Amino acid sequence: MNTTPVWMDCDTGFDDLMALVAIANEPAITLVGVSTVVGNTSLANTTRNTLATVELFGITAPVYAGCASPMAQPPQTIESLLGADGLGTIDRRLPDPVRRTVGPRHGVQALIDCCRLTQRPITIMATGPLTNLAHALALAPDIATTIERVVVMGGSADSGNHTAAAEFNVYADPEAWRQVLRSGVPMEIFGLNLTRQVLITPADEDAIRAVGTPLAHTIADHLAFYLRIRTKDEPSPMPLHDPSVAAYLAHPEWFELKDAHVEVEVAGTVTRGATVCEFRVPRKAAPNAHVAVSAQGRAVVDHIVGRMVQALIAVA
Ligand code: RIB
Ligand code: CA
Repeated sequence: MNTTPVWMDCDTGFDDLMALVAIANEPAITLVGVSTVVGNTSLANTTRNTLATVELFGITAPVYAGCASPMAQPPQTIESLLGADGLGTIDRRLPDPVRRTVGPRHGVQALIDCCRLTQRPITIMATGPLTNLAHALALAPDIATTIERVVVMGGSADSGNHTAAAEFNVYADPEAWRQVLRSGVPMEIFGLNLTRQVLITPADEDAIRAVGTPLAHTIADHLAFYLRIRTKDEPSPMPLHDPSVAAYLAHPEWFELKDAHVEVEVAGTVTRGATVCEFRVPRKAAPNAHVAVSAQGRAVVDHIVGRMVQALIAVA
C-alpha cells in the first residue's frame, strides 16, 4: 500500500501521547520521524515522555530532540497544570525509557534532512509550539516545497485557554507561528474552537483500563489525571486536543474546514498569542490557511480510544 509519510513534532504531554500512539498505528500512514520541543514541559521532559511512549508501544520511528527555548521569549511551560514532568497521573507513571534514545542530530536538522531526502512530500503533524518548524523553514526555505501540508493543533477561532485570548501552543511561541504562517506552507489548523467539540470522558478511561494490562492501567491513570485537570476531585469531560489532528489524518470526512486568513498577535500585552481568523476571504483578505470548524466529536474520540486499546493489546 502507498502510505502517507508523516513527521510528528510534539511536546509530549498526555494528549500528544494519545496522538502519537494513534498516528503510529494508522495503516495508511508511515510515521517517518518524531521531533520534540519545549512546551507542556521542558525539552528534557517532553523528550523523555516521547521516548517512553515509543519504547512501550513498539513505535520504531526515530526520535530527535529539538528546541529547548522559544524563538523570542523564555519557555512558558504548564507544569503547574500538568505535573512536574508534564505527564501527570493519579497513580502509576509511564516508566522511563530503557532502550530508546534520541538520534544524534538536532530535531530541526533531522526535520530538514527528512524533507530534503524524501521521495514523497511530507505531511507534518504538529501538536506543540511550532518552534522547531519555524527554525527549519528559516534555515532551509527550500523545504517549503517538499512539505505537503502542516496539520497543526493550535490557536483558536474564538477564545483561548492559557489566556482569555491565546491557546497555549501559540502563546508558548507566537513568533514561531507567525513565521510558519508567513512561509506559505499549506496549513490546516485545529484550534480550540474545534477541539472543544472532541470530548474524552470517564467512560473512555474505563474502556482503556478494561484491557487489564499494567500498561493499560498506567495509561488509564494518566487519563484519569487529564480528566481532573479542571476539577481536581471529580473527573469531567476534557477536550482531546492533539488526537483530533491524528483522527483528521485518518478520517478527514469527520471534519469540516474553511478557508481563512489567520494572523498571530505578537505585540499585544493582553492579547499576545491570539490567533485572529478572518473567514471573509478573499473579500477581506487573501486566505492563508484552512481552519477546522466542526467535527464529529464522538466518532473522533471512539477512533482514538480504539487505536489506544488496539495498541495496548498488541504490546500486551
Ligand atoms: O492547548 C492545547 C495544547 O497545548 C495541546 O497540544 C497540549 O498538549 C498543549 O501542548
Ligand atoms: Ca501538545
